[in-house]
Amino acid sequence: MSKSILILPGDGIGPEIVDEAVKVLACLRSDFGLDVDLDEALVGGAAYDVTGHPLPDATLDLAREADAILLGAVGGPKWEPLDYSVRPERGLLGLRAELGLFANLRPAILYPQLAEASTLKPEVVAGLDIMIVRELTGGIYFGQPRGVRTLETGEREGFNTLVYRESEIDRIVRVAMDIAKKRNRRVCSVDKANVLECTELWRQVATQVGKDYPEVELSHMYVDNASMQLVRAPKQFDVLVTTNMFGDILSDCAAMLTGSIGMLPSASLDANGKGMYEPIHGSAPDIAGKGVANPLATILSVAMLLRYSLDEGVLAERLEGAVEAVLNKGMRTPDIHSPGTQGVGTREMGDAVVEALRSA
Ligand code: IPM
Ligand code: MG
Repeated sequence: MSKSILILPGDGIGPEIVDEAVKVLACLRSDFGLDVDLDEALVGGAAYDVTGHPLPDATLDLAREADAILLGAVGGPKWEPLDYSVRPERGLLGLRAELGLFANLRPAILYPQLAEASTLKPEVVAGLDIMIVRELTGGIYFGQPRGVRTLETGEREGFNTLVYRESEIDRIVRVAMDIAKKRNRRVCSVDKANVLECTELWRQVATQVGKDYPEVELSHMYVDNASMQLVRAPKQFDVLVTTNMFGDILSDCAAMLTGSIGMLPSASLDANGKGMYEPIHGSAPDIAGKGVANPLATILSVAMLLRYSLDEGVLAERLEGAVEAVLNKGMRTPDIHSPGTQGVGTREMGDAVVEALRSA
């Protein structure tokens, strides 16, 4: 039976980069027998403009029915003045929460071809291959109470709540452990247990879960140190597992080690392997519509979608190979450009990947 993929282009560069990923999916369908149906819906600011809500019911219904979701990006300055409840970001957070996508996998891999594009010394980042496992449906992003209140003095006070249940910590640490088993069998759990009770509990639960995985070496690190270690000696890490907000911050940092945030895909999975796939970069409004955005993170997100939601590991590897082939040819969008390489735009990059897929 064919599988269904819901395409959510979103805002900013979202539509442009998703177009290239859809080209790739079309090629996988026509030339490699991938049995998928594609549907498309509105999310984020694009949805707000049409329906008054960043996550319309129609989109959520389609998302619930789909086997997997491919999302571009949401947000932009146009919608910043809006109330929080209808900001584009609420569309993304709503999808994560409503679909129970608690496990966010953010690989940071340095393609040897791009070592020059990193701001760090090549010897620090060469061969880098880290997997950040970020908890995605809990923590301070969703904790109640939250808001801004006015005190008796007339001064306003903003507040958010960091909260984790044992079961939420347990399941995300298990995801990290299972991934580590297929990699270099090391997990570093990142917390702020010296200050925050909630993450002291995180550390205790992680330690407990670790006992079920004697083959995996579990270590713990405070988040401030982890951010320093990520830029000092990133290759010490194999799998990192952490809270929603720490994972948000550390994954941007890890992305930059690889030269460009424009290269990195992500998967957000529920308990049954259903997933939403998106590049980890945002909507980049400054370059939207110019045809220069790097579509590779979105195309690599398709590879993750094939692997995790469609059980098409062989096709996933083929696609990743095609991306490497294009990099080997020296094709570079501006974000990964270095002297001596060939500058290309969004479309040319997408076409080149399709061509590499066909000729592989
Ligand atoms: C991310 C983004 C989102 C987040 C925003 C757009 C809500 O930064 O996916 O990392 O903070 O989770
Ligand atoms: Mg982020």
